[in-house]
Amino acid sequence: MTTRNILVTSALPYANGSIHLGHLVEYIQTDIWVRFQKMRGHNVHYVCADDTHGTPIMLRAQTEGITPEQLIARVWHEHFNDFSAFHVEFDHYGSTNSNETREYAEDIYKKLKSAGLIEVRSIEQYYDPVKSMFLPDRFIKGECPKCHAKDQYGDNCEVCGAAYAPTELINPYSAVSGAKPEMRHSDHYFFKLSDKRCQEFLREWTRSGTLQQEAANKMQEWLGTEGENKLTDWDISRDAPYFGFEIPDAPGKYFYVWLDAPVGYMGSFKQLCNSRIETAGDFSAQLSGDATSCCAKDRGSRVDFDEYWKQGSNTELYHFIGKDILYFHALFWPAMLEHSGFRTPTRLFAHGFLTVNGEKMSKSRGTFITARSYVEHVKNTEYLRYYYASLLNGTMGDIDLNLGLTEKGVDQKEGFVAKVNSDLIGKYINIASRCAGFINKRFGGLLFEGEPVLPELQMQSGYYYLSKPIQERIVDAYENRDYSRALREIMAYADQVNQFVDEYKPWIMAKDASKDKELQQVCTMALNMFRWLTILLKPVLPTLAKNVEEFLSIPPLEWKDAGVPLPAGHKINEYKHLMTRLDPKLIEAMVAANKESLQPTTQVQSEQRHAVHQQHAITPLSDTISIEDFSKIDLRVARIVNAEHVEGAEKLLKLTIDIGEEKPRTVFAGIKSAYDPEKLKGRMTAMVANLAPRKMKFGLSEGMVLAASGSESGLYILSPDEGAKPGMRIK
Ligand code: MSP
Ligand code: ZN
Repeated sequence: MTTRNILVTSALPYANGSIHLGHLVEYIQTDIWVRFQKMRGHNVHYVCADDTHGTPIMLRAQTEGITPEQLIARVWHEHFNDFSAFHVEFDHYGSTNSNETREYAEDIYKKLKSAGLIEVRSIEQYYDPVKSMFLPDRFIKGECPKCHAKDQYGDNCEVCGAAYAPTELINPYSAVSGAKPEMRHSDHYFFKLSDKRCQEFLREWTRSGTLQQEAANKMQEWLGTEGENKLTDWDISRDAPYFGFEIPDAPGKYFYVWLDAPVGYMGSFKQLCNSRIETAGDFSAQLSGDATSCCAKDRGSRVDFDEYWKQGSNTELYHFIGKDILYFHALFWPAMLEHSGFRTPTRLFAHGFLTVNGEKMSKSRGTFITARSYVEHVKNTEYLRYYYASLLNGTMGDIDLNLGLTEKGVDQKEGFVAKVNSDLIGKYINIASRCAGFINKRFGGLLFEGEPVLPELQMQSGYYYLSKPIQERIVDAYENRDYSRALREIMAYADQVNQFVDEYKPWIMAKDASKDKELQQVCTMALNMFRWLTILLKPVLPTLAKNVEEFLSIPPLEWKDAGVPLPAGHKINEYKHLMTRLDPKLIEAMVAANKESLQPTTQVQSEQRHAVHQQHAITPLSDTISIEDFSKIDLRVARIVNAEHVEGAEKLLKLTIDIGEEKPRTVFAGIKSAYDPEKLKGRMTAMVANLAPRKMKFGLSEGMVLAASGSESGLYILSPDEGAKPGMRIK
């Protein structure tokens, strides 16, 4: 087998949010593949970085009253720690806000420019006169031109789903300052993707086996048929103020974040190369002090940047990405590289999105779970690695984290808990826990040695032997990122091993002193098979494998050890519990905590809440009711379609309310003192839907909108969390 030189990346996470279980689908998937390749003896470099530039990061830093540099340094540490907790082991984790990334971004830009692929054009864009900045689409809000819902984003409406240009919004306003935006002209830099050279190259690249079938189909759609020119030029500049790299010959113009983000792959790899030079021969050397680039693993042999990136390189380059960023990686990125003298990716590995319990992750359902929160509640992150692996199959299909939540708690027969407990504890760990004790207690930890009493166990033809064909099938599955198939094969083999233990029944042999040798030989064989299983599972369960290595007193397992028994008479260490069952209570607690965390949680906010609490007593609680009593009240999520003043009414507003029924309802609500009807239009709230209609002076009221009030003046209508739809029952 020849040693392959492989560079692997995962997408660079944005530096303005926490790592959540959705992200981890990608990083765990990549890490498993990298570990597998390393165990096979290949030369693999796995790099990643934080994606630090752009308007959202700039604005978030402003809101927090810190510099963008301070923000990204803090988030870098959070991200790095989260990944470490999930055993995602990068060879280097950098930041796009680095000199290395800047150099390559400028270099690529200059080369594209001299190739005639950059063009300057004046465009019209909304400008915030208060903030003195051009507004990205996401930062412009207004009324949807189609359904007239208020407060919709500049690119699409969350109520009716319509997509449009920000200029089509009715009464647009800046989401940053609230000001009315003005149309202004500005020069922007474009990468001419519509150029014939780009089109031709991309057509060819798409056909050369670089993409999964689904991705190649998407590309065909984007590229259109031969002769058709569907690609439009790509706007790669943004005006100041912007947090990013200034374009070399264009003061006040910055590279759009998506230009330097993929260049961050190169920048991070370059840092890896540099650190290898700095520490070569001096293994105790601390890495150079940059706070946002580090990795304890940055030690080892030299790596040459050009060998991996120059055009015509014979090393392999793979990008793991989510399906949402395929456009950037399959069109812009290879076109940029091709026309600036660099190599292009060997393959893109795109994956689908994570759903939890069959739905999009949701804060209100407690299923928007951060990496940190998982670690706090469940602790063992290998459960999740195993579960994700059991679902990943190398396609772009979505995968579902089924937490098995039911009204009575977590279902232990299906989903996450069931999978982990039945496979890992029930099948795999079970083998060691059934056999190790005998070796430890009866034979002083020594494996069998000498003339076999059960000669058939020496042969490689038994059903329990890890045969070459099984090994090859598992290698093929891992190689093709079909971990789901790999784990099915591995568990089928674990079944055979358990069948072996059941057949030879060491616990019966243990009762018969004359069967001592048999007992030792059977348990030795079982532990050998347990060791092989550990090799097969090691890419997925690296920490568990490490504990097994310690228990068996062996050097780090490599793939070539599969099917090879331990030396006769080898001494193992005492067996300690390797993994405990996943307790469903932990999952319940995690989901509950994520629901709770919707309440204000910052220090200041909780202090404020506390202070208010002490100042005034709440009105006494009503009598206790039963759940049956409560369920008589039919509460629904409602959308206020329209709100208007009622002539002659002092307190009332007339609301038109949609709760998903055929016809909207009319409700008269006593909230005039607190709300301007214009501000209510399009808003979501909660209502009592089965209250008997009431005839009022101004008309029939067909329900009641819920609002909170206290002893002081002030009235507050309720609103559901994002994602709730009109008509959903509230219980
Ligand atoms: N910063 C860009 C990537 C730049 S790469 C040069 C970005 N960042 S991200 O933080 O939004 O996402 C990082 C990766 O996580 C992406 O590949 C994205 O597809 C993936 N995921 C984010 N949420 C996800 C799920 N809910 N499910 C699966 N993958 C998800 O995009
Ligand atoms: Zn709409």
